[in-house]
Amino acid sequence: MQHAERQRILEPLRLGREQLLEVKRRLEEAMEQGLAKETHQQASLKMLPTYVRATPDGTEHGDFLALDLGGTNFRVLLVRVRSGKKRSVEMHNKIYSIPQETMQGTGEEVRLLVYMPMFVSVQHTKGILLRWTKGFKATGCEGEDVVTLLKDAIRRKEKFDLDVVALVNDTVGTMMTCGYEDPLCEVGLIVGTGTNACYMEEVRNVELVEEDEGRMCVNMEWGAFGDGGELDELCAEFDRVVDESSNNPGKQRYEKMISGMYLGEIVRNVLLEFTAKGLLFCGKPTERLKTRGIFETKFLSQIESDRLALRQVRSILQHLGLTSSTCDDSILVKEVCGVVSRRAAQLCGAGLAAVVDKVRRNRGLEHLRITVGVDGTLYKLHPHFSGILRETVLDLAPGCEVSFLQSEDGSGKGAALITAVACRMRDAAK
Ligand code: BG6
Ligand code: GLC
Repeated sequence: MQHAERQRILEPLRLGREQLLEVKRRLEEAMEQGLAKETHQQASLKMLPTYVRATPDGTEHGDFLALDLGGTNFRVLLVRVRSGKKRSVEMHNKIYSIPQETMQGTGEEVRLLVYMPMFVSVQHTKGILLRWTKGFKATGCEGEDVVTLLKDAIRRKEKFDLDVVALVNDTVGTMMTCGYEDPLCEVGLIVGTGTNACYMEEVRNVELVEEDEGRMCVNMEWGAFGDGGELDELCAEFDRVVDESSNNPGKQRYEKMISGMYLGEIVRNVLLEFTAKGLLFCGKPTERLKTRGIFETKFLSQIESDRLALRQVRSILQHLGLTSSTCDDSILVKEVCGVVSRRAAQLCGAGLAAVVDKVRRNRGLEHLRITVGVDGTLYKLHPHFSGILRETVLDLAPGCEVSFLQSEDGSGKGAALITAVACRMRDAAK
């Protein structure tokens, strides 16, 4: 009886193959809408042109400074790119965790997180912050050009000018970094605090760019998929609760079903439901269980680790302040975590299948070999996420042979490489 009741609660979180194929199909449609001039404005996927057209060819060199505002950390990197026989990328970095007050305070605090000596400029770069995501809500930044904001802040503080050559999304940096190692790498994927992907699109399909030749990297901002209702039938009640109690209700619906910042919240809401039905924690929800944000991604990853004995799961729950847990409770919590993270990996896989299949069709190929450069704490730390993701892509995009390449500090290194390529092209044009 109890078993049936448990399964009834978990049912809406289990996705079948047909549903995943439907996600893939809708995402393909949303990609087309985002790329087309006529529908771009109202499309949920923004499909932003990045103006990155060339990947490194090994002749780049120079010293670059890169600032990487990720989800968990803010990194400052000095990157040395060498060409010729010594072809290499050497990095020195300093990592700062991003304090909550800074993420949610005034934009000034974000801008002044750190300042460093300057590097060379070759072109004017501009980047309007369309929307904060992943828990950032610092004021005075949305709708502004972040390059100007950053330069102004540095000038006010240190009285020197810093020229910004490249402003790069983390997916693009990741793709470029992995592209340095593997020329087949034409997709960048992040599954961490947030989730997003970029890929090499034919310029003729990027209607916002008035050119037709060659390819350009497109930053999909795929976290916003679903904001136009595309995922409504798939969403469970738990997803709606998590969305409504977030900083940005109605926004980033796909991201909220996949990424590390939200999975723990989905789990917590399922556990609350189990407790309310008397199936968990003796039917008594503790204050702790009612507290938002207690289940960080790292706990999910630990709880789902196959090496962990139930006794250890129990001690994690105790560490989380869920002290009344029994052995049965631990089994159930582990099952809930498994269902939620499996769905996340499958949804992410359906999205990736749409992307690689589009690249395959663009090139008129029956069979495509492609590498995905990937980063993010959920992908890297979770014991099953990457495996389920891979299985799903294989199943839903059978015409594509997809390899995954993990990147370390991808964004900073990638931004430096993009700058190095820009410098190379500037020098060649002189
Ligand atoms: C880092 C990249 O390695 O991964 C960042 O350098 C990126 O740019 C980050 O944003 C994503 O992971 P998380 O888990 O920090 O969001
Ligand atoms: C969020 C951001 C996006 C970023 C992603 C992964 O979705 O909006 O720009 O690429 O998180 O970090």
